[in-house]
Amino acid sequence: VRSRRQRQMCIRDRCGIIGINSNKPVSATILNSLKKLEYRGYDSAGIATLSSGLINEVKSEGRVDNLEKNSLVQKMEGTIGIGHVRWATHGLPNSINAHPHSSQNVSVVHNGIIENSTLLKKFLVGKGHKFKSQTDTEVIVHLITENLKTENIVNSIKKTLKSLHGSFALGIIFKDQPDLIVGARRGSPLAVGYGPNENYLGSDSYALKSMTNKITYLNDGEFCVIKKDHVEFFNEDGVKINKKVLELSSSEEKYDKGDYKHFMAKEIEEQPITLKNGINEYIDTSNNDINIYNFPWKSNEISSVTLIGCGTAYHSCLMAKYWFEELTSLDVNVDIASEFRYRKNRFKKDTLYVFVSQSGETADTYAALDLCKQNGMKTCAVVNVIESSIARDSGFVLPIHCGTEIGVASTKAFLGQILILYMLSLKIGLWRNDISKEAFVNKLKDLKELPKLVEKTLLTDNKIQTISGTFNEAKGSMFLGRGFSYPIALEGALKLKELSYVHAEGYPAGEMKHGPLALIEEGMPVVVLAPRDNYYKKTISNMQEVIARGAKVLLITNKSKDEVVSENIWEKIEVESTNEDLLPFLLTIPLQKLAYYSALKKGYDIDKPRNLAKSVTVE
Ligand code: G6P
Repeated sequence: VRSRRQRQMCIRDRCGIIGINSNKPVSATILNSLKKLEYRGYDSAGIATLSSGLINEVKSEGRVDNLEKNSLVQKMEGTIGIGHVRWATHGLPNSINAHPHSSQNVSVVHNGIIENSTLLKKFLVGKGHKFKSQTDTEVIVHLITENLKTENIVNSIKKTLKSLHGSFALGIIFKDQPDLIVGARRGSPLAVGYGPNENYLGSDSYALKSMTNKITYLNDGEFCVIKKDHVEFFNEDGVKINKKVLELSSSEEKYDKGDYKHFMAKEIEEQPITLKNGINEYIDTSNNDINIYNFPWKSNEISSVTLIGCGTAYHSCLMAKYWFEELTSLDVNVDIASEFRYRKNRFKKDTLYVFVSQSGETADTYAALDLCKQNGMKTCAVVNVIESSIARDSGFVLPIHCGTEIGVASTKAFLGQILILYMLSLKIGLWRNDISKEAFVNKLKDLKELPKLVEKTLLTDNKIQTISGTFNEAKGSMFLGRGFSYPIALEGALKLKELSYVHAEGYPAGEMKHGPLALIEEGMPVVVLAPRDNYYKKTISNMQEVIARGAKVLLITNKSKDEVVSENIWEKIEVESTNEDLLPFLLTIPLQKLAYYSALKKGYDIDKPRNLAKSVTVE
């Protein structure tokens, strides 16, 4: 069992890496792969190739687009090369700190953090090595260069890796080796891909998919030597090992913006289809059942469930808590992965640990999973990317089937996650006889109608466009809900923050009087989620409390024959009606659009908001 310190270090990663060893020029293909890896970070990007016996390096600050515009990239020659997109951790996000980092003999791209870089740097400077950047990565370059003075390639890599503390995925090329890329992994994901007379290295299969569907994943401690016609794998002691080649399910999925201005707009509109896909994958209409095949545990082996995630995925977990408590007799806990991983957890054999993640690569969520595995727990992943680290390393996987999501602010993956979690709670409820078959079948019937209701709710467009301006102009806003609507209020506030860079706070409506009511002042926009459910009357009372203090209330409720009895509501949006369990899906739609239109009005980069990354593979 690994120590707590080792586990803490276990998965830290930054950015995306790619390597290609081919007979053809590689810089354009590396550039394309970097565009795919941009979801991992977009502070800076760079490429290094070998040509005429020299290492050429081109790096740019900012997006991969900037690198593409760099005239030096257009002219880059070489049939072997490595590339990198960065999300800065050590050193400013500028072109000097961008990867690759090179000496005369060696060039390196790195994901992760080298924790003993200060000590190593002192040693290397003592040996006469000159450093150019503020990064920890540069020590790897010089350490390899130093070790190559006395060792062959494999031994110099082995020796270098043993000196490094921390986490890494590495891609390395050598001035004197025109047919060789080295890849190495400890903690950060890395895959090798196989093509015709060329082979590849990449942070994930998504970056490699346009080139191949044949993949081998490196495990921690392993490294590999990639030649054009074959790949050799080694364990940490430099002993050759055999590894399986996996065939990925499909070749590259074509995913572009189509007629939409932004991926986010497309992803919002796609939700009826993605929900339908999820429902079709899991619901067995002829037997009125939910198919969860090969679930490895019996219902009496589980008495509680702990749901873990980050960001939007954490909100999915919170949402699921309400359904699990409503539909099953399980005890339910919800945790933010970055908190869970460092707490003194009481691991219990009869707990099912559910890890929710769109990308399946989020470092904190992976570390929480790793911790549960180390302690022999039952682990289940709810992920979008089925080839991801979290999916591969979990005891059981429930894919959300919503296709590639590009917008950094998650939309369709959120509805996909809560759909699966809802179906899981229903199925467990039935298994444990916590709900009757009749109730189960009725709920399935309603669920099958959900995509159509989402489609109709998506039509409430114009009003939201107009309203969004008020949220942009205000100092801040609040999003309130009770019960099933509370996690949705949190998600609505998160969307607005992520995209419009205005302060927004999600809060349980009933808790306002214990503090946040002091924030309410004349004209402050407040979104109140008050669908006609068990909490309706209570929430309307809370709404009146904020109206009385001058708030401009946007009420989001569902259609009903009964009028809302309240005065001075600023605006009202009505979503479609369905049973109480499913209303959260519909309430989410106007909130996604509110955030989208606010950012659109401000002219911000909607698909790539500042300071954020789609997949946060750094702790
Ligand atoms: C980042 C993204 C969020 C996402 C979170 C968790 O912060 O910007 O949109 O919710 O990571 O990502 P995951 O891939 O684990 O769902």
